[in-house]
Amino acid sequence: MATFLFVLNTCILYTKSDGTEKLDELYAETDSKNITNASLKCEGIEGRVAECSECYTCDHEAVARHRDLKHEITELKLNDANCGASETICCISQKDLKFRESTNADRLSCGRSNPEGYPRALRASIRSVLQGEYPWRAWIYYWQDPNTPLCAATYINKEGRTLLTSASCVEGRRADALIVRFNRDPERYHPVSVRRIDVHEHYDKATLVNDIAVLSVESVPPWMQRACLPIEPVLLGTACIAVSDNNLYLNQVVPRQSKCKENGILDNSLMCSATLKDDYIPELGGGMYCLDEQSNANIYTVYGVYLTNSTNGLAALYTNVTHFSEWIINKTEKHRNI
Ligand SMILES: *[C@@H]1O[C@H](CO)[C@@H](O)[C@H](O)[C@H]1NC(C)=O
Ligand SMILES: *[C@@H]1O[C@H](CO)[C@@H](O)[C@H](O)[C@H]1NC(C)=O
Ligand SMILES: *[C@@H]1O[C@H](CO)[C@@H](O)[C@H](O)[C@H]1NC(C)=O
Ligand SMILES: *[C@@H]1O[C@H](CO)[C@@H](O)[C@H](O)[C@H]1NC(C)=O
Ligand SMILES: *[C@@H]1O[C@H](CO)[C@@H](O)[C@H](O)[C@H]1NC(C)=O
Repeated sequence: MATFLFVLNTCILYTKSDGTEKLDELYAETDSKNITNASLKCEGIEGRVAECSECYTCDHEAVARHRDLKHEITELKLNDANCGASETICCISQKDLKFRESTNADRLSCGRSNPEGYPRALRASIRSVLQGEYPWRAWIYYWQDPNTPLCAATYINKEGRTLLTSASCVEGRRADALIVRFNRDPERYHPVSVRRIDVHEHYDKATLVNDIAVLSVESVPPWMQRACLPIEPVLLGTACIAVSDNNLYLNQVVPRQSKCKENGILDNSLMCSATLKDDYIPELGGGMYCLDEQSNANIYTVYGVYLTNSTNGLAALYTNVTHFSEWIINKTEKHRNI
């Protein structure tokens, strides 16, 4: 049975099975943006989860998998606005979402976030992303307009000083007309020049197929860390994050890819995530960073490069980074000697 995922708030992700119309109605009546104690009791969700959790209908395959692994499963009730019909959902703490073991030693030095920011700072709001929290985020500017980024990028390779972004962001631009910053704070940012731009040879503007590019920059500050590159495709139901232009967290969950497009199938070079309708949208060229399920450490991998939305804003469309693993490695090898 096909599934689709919704994000109820910043810390609860919820999956429902298709064809469960009752759940559709319940979801429609849940004010997902303003969950208060009262609405937790009555309009929406009853019960609490201690930490950020992913929730599914209790008969979902993911729940069975976690039950086998003896992970703690918290049951919540979804109520309609009248406190009437309720449905039980099963939630798993994100700390129990473990990853694939990796034998690649290289992965030990990538994908580690700074949950308190770098330098440490307080969040302006619960959804604010801190400077240096995901220390692989970067922004690309046209030199004549150094205040408005053309788009975001992700630092992925140390020796090549390589950043990953979309082809649509940099196509037709000259490397010497671009600058990159690793900090958005106007007091601290210090631009570096771009040495080389590699846009995918088969980028198709009309279909967004192969919408990927890598850049090599002059230097990268020592506090920056690389995001990991994917080894295998992201698993269905993985919880990921993206960041909006105004620097807020956006929960993204990987649905079955057949859900990404209203008519037809997505090209393998593209992928989508389920998002909350009418929420903010991710920054262009920015990454979708996922906590891979099979490592004990919290390691973020960049699985997507944000392009646009689809299915009427319910899905965010990304370049499927896994699809370009070899292409990216080939280009970064060349960046070493620039
Ligand atoms: C959330 O609740 C607060 C306080 O009740 C209210 O001021 C605010 O407008 C609400 N926001 C939304 C998005 O409904
Ligand atoms: C909301 O509920 C929690 C747990 O029951 C309680 O500790 C907290 O004080 C409540 N907050 C408000 C504003 O009522
Ligand atoms: C979807 O993308 C279009 C075109 O980029 C944009 O105008 C629209 O605001 C987006 N809608 C949502 C819900 O993100
Ligand atoms: C991405 O590309 C890989 C490799 O071509 C493919 O196996 C996978 O199904 C694609 N989609 C996702 C969501 O990973
Ligand atoms: C990567 O480089 C190798 C060796 O030059 C080449 O055979 C291969 O086709 C390249 N792959 C891609 C996807 O560019």
